[in-house]
Amino acid sequence: MTTPQPLPLKGKIALITGASRGIGAGLARELSTRGASLLLTYTSPSSDSLVTSLISTLPTPCRSIRVDLSHPSAPSTILRALDEWLGPDSKIHILVNNAAVEVVKGLGEIEIEDYEKVYNLNRFDPRGKNRVINIGSVGARCGMKNLGLYCSSKAALEGLTRCWAAELGGDGTTVNQVNPGPVATEMLENIPREIVDGQKARTPLEGRVGTVEEVSRIAGWLAGEESSWVTGQVLSASGGLEMY
Ligand SMILES: NC(=O)c1ccc[n+]([C@@H]2O[C@H](COP(=O)([O-])OP(=O)(O)OC[C@H]3O[C@@H](n4cnc5c(N)ncnc54)[C@H](OP(=O)(O)O)[C@@H]3O)[C@@H](O)[C@H]2O)c1
Repeated sequence: MTTPQPLPLKGKIALITGASRGIGAGLARELSTRGASLLLTYTSPSSDSLVTSLISTLPTPCRSIRVDLSHPSAPSTILRALDEWLGPDSKIHILVNNAAVEVVKGLGEIEIEDYEKVYNLNRFDPRGKNRVINIGSVGARCGMKNLGLYCSSKAALEGLTRCWAAELGGDGTTVNQVNPGPVATEMLENIPREIVDGQKARTPLEGRVGTVEEVSRIAGWLAGEESSWVTGQVLSASGGLEMY
């Protein structure tokens, strides 16, 4: 007889942004398997069916809301969806800021619209009381050609992670960041091949890209009780690429 697995996140509500595919979908599977109910966000109509099919496989109650997080009204739209689902007194216990975009452009080509596209999305105001997990990138701490907007937005997210940790710690809330190295998702397809090949060559663990599950498990640990004394930290989930 198999022993039933404990559900460390049972009774918790988690909001995961950008959960239709890639790492976000992996985060949804991980937190749901650990017992959390999920509100998942995404933005493209073409991802409607992806989210519906993801939710149909998750073991806990989950809802989704399609919203463009670069728009200032997005947080209130999400909270309205939460209220409609679970009632006006419902609270978010775990906030995973995962949605992001990248723009691959050199200094001379960057337009103000590119800046707004990256910077208006790659950060988000928290309303969590328990756990905030920001998904950054190893790019926050290394130089990569033509990725200035993306990498600097992830470096800024590290700054927010530390400041939010200082601000929100009084009630036991932790704020941490996971910085993945390359992971095989649609986002990676937009990164020049030579950059990814160079990253693989410099990855001590097996010289490969990471998996969605390898990143999601770290977030799963950060979302639970075991990580209660860890805050303001950045964990590099990269097989040793960019050690810090
Ligand atoms: N993949 C990598 O190699 C890698 C490496 C380091 C860090 N990361 C980080 O990991 C996180 C997830 O990356 P990924 O590779 O899974 O990306 P992805 O496959 O491109 O998925 C991006 C997700 O963000 C959502 N999204 C995009 N623009 C949005 C907007 N304006 N408003 C709301 N949601 C939006 C997308 O929704 P739709 O499906 O509706 O478009 C999708 O769910 C990001 O923070 C990324 O920077 C990834």
